[in-house]
Amino acid sequence: MHKIIAANWKMYKDRTQAATTAGELAAVLPEILPAGREVIVFPPFTAIESVARVFDGKKGLAVGGQNFYPAPEGAFTGEISIDMLRDVGAQWVLAGHSERRHVFGESDELVARKAVFALSHGLKTMLCIGEKLEEREQGSLYAVLERQLMAFFEARPDGMAGETLPGRLAIAYEPVWAIGTGKVAGPGEVREAHGVTRALLERFVGDSGKKLPILYGGSVKPDNAGALIALDNVDGLLVGGASLEAQSFLQIIGA
Ligand code: 13P
Repeated sequence: MHKIIAANWKMYKDRTQAATTAGELAAVLPEILPAGREVIVFPPFTAIESVARVFDGKKGLAVGGQNFYPAPEGAFTGEISIDMLRDVGAQWVLAGHSERRHVFGESDELVARKAVFALSHGLKTMLCIGEKLEEREQGSLYAVLERQLMAFFEARPDGMAGETLPGRLAIAYEPVWAIGTGKVAGPGEVREAHGVTRALLERFVGDSGKKLPILYGGSVKPDNAGALIALDNVDGLLVGGASLEAQSFLQIIGA
């Protein structure tokens, strides 16, 4: 499976800063991007268009939105639609990032509805899942990942069969306790969680579940990226803090 290396810039960078970092990536990546690797950057809304302009026409580079509201348009003050994201150049969206779930209170049901909406309206979707520390300590890893994935797979309309998902749905496993804490999950923990996720995907959509990429996220840095991406069922990385500087993100991409 090809590998996806994604940057989540969260609420960092204005347009100039974003275009500068995107330019540093675009200047070298078309030459050095290893075959079968794809890079996606998720800037804040106001910088999506700036990054999309820099990436335009560059092979293997894509841009996405970090959030959106699952309605075509309407009286939803403060929200952004899928068409608006596409209009500024987004090809991807995140759904269910841990900060959306735990800082903004998005439920499994809302996250599932958002992922279904984005896919139905033609944007590739990265569905994020992951357990909190107390859930892991209670031995609930399997139950949490099952609940989060099941919410999405059961919310799909009839037309969204499993075979239609590879190529447009990616899963990102991000243990909440490893996000922004410097505490990366160990190889055993990552192997276990990705194995559970793979088994669940196969349970929900059969063989198509083998073809859905599962990214790891949570304190990925240049010095641990190589070991993480080499693990079974790790088909990419979703990087926060270490993606903000081009040099550090480039080292991760090349790891
Ligand atoms: P950090 O890499 O800063 O831990 O963030 C991970 C993350 O949330 C990516 O979506």
